[in-house]
Amino acid sequence: KQSVSHAYRAGIFHCLADPTSTATPEEAYEYYADGILVINDEGKVERLGPADQILPTLPSGFPITTYPNAIITPGFIDTHNHFPQTEMIAAFGEQLLDWLETYTFPTESKFQSLEYAQQVAGVYLDELLRNGTTTAMAFSSVHAESAEALFKEAYQRDMCLITGKVLMDRHAPETVRDTPEAGCTQSRTLIEQWHGKGRLHYAVTPRFAITSTPEQLEAAGHLLKEYDGLYMQTHLSENHKEIAWISELFPERCHYLDVYDHYGLVGPRSVFAHGIHLCEDEIQRLARQDAAISFCPTSNLFLGSGLFNLKQMKQHKVKVSLGSDVGAGTSFSMLQTLNEAYKVTQMRGDKLSPFESFYLATLAGAETLQLDDRLGNFLPGKEADFIVLDLHSTPLMQYRMNNCNNVFETLFVLCILGDDRNIKETFVKGISRHQRDQATH
Ligand code: GUN
Ligand code: ZN
Repeated sequence: KQSVSHAYRAGIFHCLADPTSTATPEEAYEYYADGILVINDEGKVERLGPADQILPTLPSGFPITTYPNAIITPGFIDTHNHFPQTEMIAAFGEQLLDWLETYTFPTESKFQSLEYAQQVAGVYLDELLRNGTTTAMAFSSVHAESAEALFKEAYQRDMCLITGKVLMDRHAPETVRDTPEAGCTQSRTLIEQWHGKGRLHYAVTPRFAITSTPEQLEAAGHLLKEYDGLYMQTHLSENHKEIAWISELFPERCHYLDVYDHYGLVGPRSVFAHGIHLCEDEIQRLARQDAAISFCPTSNLFLGSGLFNLKQMKQHKVKVSLGSDVGAGTSFSMLQTLNEAYKVTQMRGDKLSPFESFYLATLAGAETLQLDDRLGNFLPGKEADFIVLDLHSTPLMQYRMNNCNNVFETLFVLCILGDDRNIKETFVKGISRHQRDQATH
């Protein structure tokens, strides 16, 4: 499919900065109640503005699509999830370590089949698009085939996607284990084939320090330095039993983050999922080394892991974005994820404003992934990944929206009541990849 120049007319909202970093929240976003977004034939943003200013400047006959009762925003960016866990979302009853053993490892063992992995990758990517998520940083399984499958399917959809084969060589069944050598060799092959192809990037992916030997963590650190632009993704400080086991396994390290740091895995392109139970030094180190945390509220509540302290992270200037963490997370929807995020901040005696929420789900994700030169908002020249949010998606939504008085309220209602039903259309680099009303499933 080829992108052609096109204009889209609806409400338009995008973030220009972190609303907690500007003198007033209003400086952090732009909102046009009746706006036009012009996309060029390269699938990039040409310009945007109020319809009454843009309309007279468009050549006669320029194609315009108008969406009534809708807001256009940048596509959502999900900075942490697991594609092989799509089929085991909503598995009953366990906390992290038992959940991994009971459900996760058996499920992930199926992904040594390229054919199987490719089928699930298709389901997963279509589900992301149905939910308005246009970019994801995802875990595959330990099998090279799984990462291969996800790259292939994402490439076909021209999506910006980051993944890597999981590195895990201990404390797991043999069907989901590799070795330090095989893990590196297979990662290198995948990097050479996929890293930088289209909109794809590779992430060195040690699952967490429990399932990698010191030898494997060391090899991961070396691998990270071998190629330009690689990411690193792992899990950090999610669950108390996990943390206790880490201190048994690495008694010489002063805390959990120090394990990763020791092996050269903490840097500006590192994304740590969770980070719920961190000490002061860990938080300071994350900030100093410009590493990011992916906040995964639906997962943290589902596994009973704890309440993330967003305010504390922001005070220390740690980069934070949002993750669904499917399949411990319970929804692909970033709107549902924001609903739970709001409640977590409420429990912490703080509260997330809807501007901060939309920032977390869009521009903050792009900043976390160092992709904010091309994603995250509608500045001219950025890649046109955007979504059309239907404000009348259900009778209750319509009724409630008619009682909203400003964009703050409208966005807040979307964050609390919203889900996949609000995603009327999803565009990837200017091309429509999901139309709710035409979907067959
Ligand atoms: N820690 C290590 N592996 C996982 C995983 O698959 N999901 C979550 N939520 N935490 C993990
Ligand atoms: Zn995870």
